[in-house]
Amino acid sequence: MRYLVTGGAGFIGSNFIRFLFRKYGSDAHVVNLDKLTYAGIRENLAEYEGKKNYRFIHGDITNPADVAEAYSGSIDVVVNFAAETHVDRSLMEAGSFIQTDVHGVLVLLEEARKHAPNLKRFVQISTDEVYGSIERGSFKETDMLNPRNPYSASKAGGDRMAYAYAQTYGLPVIITRASNNFGPWQYPEKLIPLFVTNAIDDLPLPLYGDGRNVRDWLFVEDHCAAIDFLIERGATSEVYNVGGGNERENRDITRRILQMLAKPESLIKPVGDRQGHDRRYSLDTTKLERLGFKCSTNFDDGLRRTVQWYVENEAWWRAIKERSAEFRDYYAKQYGGR
Ligand code: NAD
Ligand code: DAU
Repeated sequence: MRYLVTGGAGFIGSNFIRFLFRKYGSDAHVVNLDKLTYAGIRENLAEYEGKKNYRFIHGDITNPADVAEAYSGSIDVVVNFAAETHVDRSLMEAGSFIQTDVHGVLVLLEEARKHAPNLKRFVQISTDEVYGSIERGSFKETDMLNPRNPYSASKAGGDRMAYAYAQTYGLPVIITRASNNFGPWQYPEKLIPLFVTNAIDDLPLPLYGDGRNVRDWLFVEDHCAAIDFLIERGATSEVYNVGGGNERENRDITRRILQMLAKPESLIKPVGDRQGHDRRYSLDTTKLERLGFKCSTNFDDGLRRTVQWYVENEAWWRAIKERSAEFRDYYAKQYGGR
């Protein structure tokens, strides 16, 4: 199989490429198209550089020429991870979210029509955030979309554009809507890696609002396995929820991280809430389970592995948190005086 993975230098994309090479070895050929934004780190996949079945292209999914080049080697499967992904950043500046998460998806779809006539599957990685917040019960794939922040509104645009290309042109699109991922290689702006790395350094853990917002946590390797499963078993035009079945309040996750690192709860610092903060995400995953897929990672085991990874890979996250001026500026703007 020849895969075009976009955003493969980011968190889930790099885990997915590693998953493919572990599972399929030299039978998997991967083109990784990534713009290397602040969140893209080419060195995440340094072990594959120079191998004949891996090619990195430094390019932008909003640029038709970059995308045409990526399609040039006869691609069987596209998995589009490339996106601006952080809700807090979308509250500071939303233009780049529209550009990549909506227009970029359009360019990928349009260029697929021109340059990939034999494409077997186009996977649009969407998110549970497109449904909005839910107080009770869980969202099904047929529920109305009600995105409530600029990030999720952009992702909803990309999600529906991919659907439109399946309906209009018969492109073999499937759409996945996953819940909150966690695991190794996650950029330390997101809740779990930020809190783990702050706790290691005895820095405050800035918990938004009352800390009782609920997210459903999905170990990244389970997410990768679900995408691989759906490439085989999913049906064109269909949407699939991918959830971990691990709903937790943020304050409980925070305490668990502190316990695992043997750090005091006094590090928790309640701070002003995120604007428009979605209270709870919850997915009904019956559709995926009926096809035969089930996640295999227990939440506590996944969290322990994640904490351990950050303990053992200090050089990786310190290069971001301590040596990236972009990150330091972002952190000061996001948390300073909060
Ligand atoms: P990430 O921020 O870690 O990585 C995003 C990657 O996309 C980076 O490598 C970045 O350089 C690249 N990128 C950004 N703009 C680009 C462009 N215009 N052209 C090419 N590359 C570009 O993100 P992630 O957490 O790995 O998320 C991957 C995908 O999964 C996203 O589409 C996101 O919306 C979706 N998703 C994430 C989660 C989660 O919890 N992290 C959950 C559900 C869905
Ligand atoms: O649900 C899927 C989505 O999960 C993905 O589509 C997004 O790309 C991904 O970023 C993630 O969005 P969230 O906003 O849920 O993730 P984040 O890690 O930013 O926040 C998780 C929860 O923790 C949320 O309720 C906000 C809270 N939080 C977050 C940060 C960064 C804090 O309390 N303090 C913080 O400093």
